[in-house]
Amino acid sequence: MKLPPELLLLLATLHPTNALPIHRRSASFRTLRGLTSLTHDYSTHETLTHPAKFFHESTFSQHYDGRFASTELPHHTRLFHLRLLLKAYMHTMERIGVRTWLVHGCLLGWWWNGKIMPWDNDVDVMVDEGGMGELGGWWNMSVHHFSGIDLGFEESTNDVVDLGGEGKKEMGLKKRDTNHMISILHEEVAKHGKKYLLEVNPHYSNTSTRDEENVIDARWIDTSTGLFIDITTVHIQPSTAPFSSPKSTSNSNPPPLYTKDQHAYPPNSLFPLRPSTFESIPVLVPFDYTALLVDEYGPAALTQRRYKDFVFDAEVGEWVGESGFGFGKWGDEEDEEGIMERRRG
Ligand SMILES: *[C@@H]1O[C@H](CO)[C@@H](O)[C@H](O)[C@H]1NC(C)=O
Ligand SMILES: *[C@@H]1O[C@H](CO)[C@@H](O)[C@H](O)[C@H]1NC(C)=O
Repeated sequence: MKLPPELLLLLATLHPTNALPIHRRSASFRTLRGLTSLTHDYSTHETLTHPAKFFHESTFSQHYDGRFASTELPHHTRLFHLRLLLKAYMHTMERIGVRTWLVHGCLLGWWWNGKIMPWDNDVDVMVDEGGMGELGGWWNMSVHHFSGIDLGFEESTNDVVDLGGEGKKEMGLKKRDTNHMISILHEEVAKHGKKYLLEVNPHYSNTSTRDEENVIDARWIDTSTGLFIDITTVHIQPSTAPFSSPKSTSNSNPPPLYTKDQHAYPPNSLFPLRPSTFESIPVLVPFDYTALLVDEYGPAALTQRRYKDFVFDAEVGEWVGESGFGFGKWGDEEDEEGIMERRRG
């Protein structure tokens, strides 16, 4: 039944005074008390310059949430936290039945050696419209607590650190000094676990590419470090042939897709997703990952073994810092096992 014209007119001009206010900004610092360990908000206040923007990054880096972080992390600990962030996210999405897959920089990292690249600061993933509807409708502002054991750590009473997972190994005494910092972190996480916040942008339902300030639909945020995963929705491109019946676009000919940041995805480039592992975590990757990576980063991104201060050591399958900083040193044994697995697979 259709609304009568006079009612339609009324609805269009109505300015309800008792409607719920639309939150233009992500949850305020005040409302996160108890979840954040900070006493001061380090978010940028772009209320005047970007009034329609929902997520606001920190004043010191666009890769941290200033409601949970006061400073950037050094490389080693950052990678440590990013791995856990991803592990907890993938586990949660699997559990609640939301299909998600790797994109952008972490897809490139996956392509090279199945790992986060040492210079990466964030993780990017995608979901489909149904998945984002689920997250927005049911899981907004949900806090997910993972114990140390959930994350693959066992609480230890002595200094020996358990790496957990499949490549479970005790860190040798020799390595203990160089990995002291990570060691402390392991214990910390083993003891207290981690809390992650899933926050959904109310603009997720606006599928317009003009909504440029809200191209990130949701964030999975590490409440102890402020690091996060950007979650973006892939949408179906509106049909350019308005009179073709929806039946004509059947399984054999899936529609082209797009994201709000104006990326277009040809039919069959994303689906069917391929199961794989990333940082030893079960993940899904787009079907035509090579084409996507070449399109986004250029062919050199798949052949050039030098980037910034890093060289790809094909022998060990690692990006190594030229300054001899030795990224990826901790857990070397585990890494090599992973690579052998990939070669076998
Ligand atoms: C999620 O919660 C935040 C904080 O209350 C709110 O600003 C935002 O609009 C909510 N998002 C959705 C999709 O409802
Ligand atoms: C979507 O966002 C754009 C840009 O802010 C805005 O012009 C448009 O009205 C929004 N559309 C909807 C349906 O909210």
